[in-house]
Amino acid sequence: MEKILSEKFYQKMDQLSTRYPSKVALLLPALHAAQDEMSWLAPEVLSEIGKYIGVHAAQVREVASFYTMYNLKPVGKYHLKVCTNVACALRGAEEIVEHCERRFGVKCGESTPDKKFTLNEEECLGACGTAPAMMLNNDYHENLTIKSLDQILDRLE
Ligand code: FES
Repeated sequence: MEKILSEKFYQKMDQLSTRYPSKVALLLPALHAAQDEMSWLAPEVLSEIGKYIGVHAAQVREVASFYTMYNLKPVGKYHLKVCTNVACALRGAEEIVEHCERRFGVKCGESTPDKKFTLNEEECLGACGTAPAMMLNNDYHENLTIKSLDQILDRLE
């Protein structure tokens, strides 16, 4: 089977493996690195990771599906993950989500037809003190307001 993940991915994993007690302990870093490279974790990618780690693809999928941070479906170029957990909900996260839905013309969990934006709700991002918070790809944006959100999005369009 031809490899999907790059040589760089395998080099990174080989380097990291010297710092982990076993290859299976590399599973989460491998999922992160693969997602950084591919933007989402297709079934073939999960199989390839399983092969490298030495576990069945179903086990890799089981782990990946437990965490909301792993994308098991294709996502747009810009992936917004808006926290709607308690602290963020109390500080207007629902309005932020609704504003995104109106602006993009999609519902949460969907991507725009041009595949530029994907919108998701997210569990606590660990930024409760600066709620409401969202992640845009791998970057945090905190103390969001409709105005600051629009300024962020205007820069992307
Ligand atoms: S509740 Fe939103 S970051 Fe914690």
